[in-house]
Amino acid sequence: MAEALQDATVKLSLDGVTSGYGAIDVLRGVSLDIREGEIFALMGKNGMGKTTLLKTILGAIRASAGRIRYEGAEITGAEPRALIAAGIGYAPQDQPLFQDLSIRDNLRLALPGDAHLPSALERVYGHFPFLADRLAQKAGTLSGGEQKMLIIARALMTEPRLLLIDEISEGLQPTVIARIAEALREERRSRGTTILLVEQNLDFALGIADRWAVLKLGTIDDAGPAGADAHSRILRHLQI
Ligand SMILES: Nc1ncnc2c1ncn2[C@@H]1O[C@H](COP(=O)(O)OP(=O)(O)OP(=O)(O)O)[C@@H](O)[C@H]1O
Ligand SMILES: [Mg+2]
Repeated sequence: MAEALQDATVKLSLDGVTSGYGAIDVLRGVSLDIREGEIFALMGKNGMGKTTLLKTILGAIRASAGRIRYEGAEITGAEPRALIAAGIGYAPQDQPLFQDLSIRDNLRLALPGDAHLPSALERVYGHFPFLADRLAQKAGTLSGGEQKMLIIARALMTEPRLLLIDEISEGLQPTVIARIAEALREERRSRGTTILLVEQNLDFALGIADRWAVLKLGTIDDAGPAGADAHSRILRHLQI
């Protein structure tokens, strides 16, 4: 009974997940529970497997061992398209916007059709009003920070129940990071969206996260709540 109750609050769970590229394992038995409605920060230095972990959740990389469950159902090996349809949103680190397309078309392409386009656009304008004023502007002419906000907006178009975000704060000014933090807080507050935030920016991550974990050489090295000692504990892992 206790286990069933606990399961009901788990949005996403990884159990002994191993995955990588060809014969090389990058993730080596990762186990992680993300609770319904929480913001969870996954930290770790360059090359530790953070992006690989998100891509494995999303089915873009196949797990060679272990199980992934989302909203109580096993999704190991499911296709990215099916997972996005099932409510998982993704703001990738390495997949740029369509630079020659307008803001509006970049947002529009996030949806399978135009039926819900007006309401979806209204929702993301609420987070980032500048998008509404510059719909026809080509994405490639936006500043770095504006492009990152557009990447978040694009991921929010499908009204995800679980949002995976990969190092969105990389290279951004503090004012832009603060706007993104506010948008994510508001998204969670208004829709209960669960957010898995991959980050190296400690202040941003701990400013919005409820819990954190550090990924080191493909395994979870440390984890805890975003309490008083979180900063120094994570910093130790990021520096060594
Ligand atoms: N397509 C690929 N083919 C082969 N190896 C890869 C590929 N992508 C990543 N790797 C390797 O897998 C390891 C983990 O990479 P990954 O991108 O998951 O790390 P990361 O934690 O996201 O790093 P960063 O913080 O720099 O984004 C690295 O050693 C990387 O070189
Ligand atoms: Mg990465």
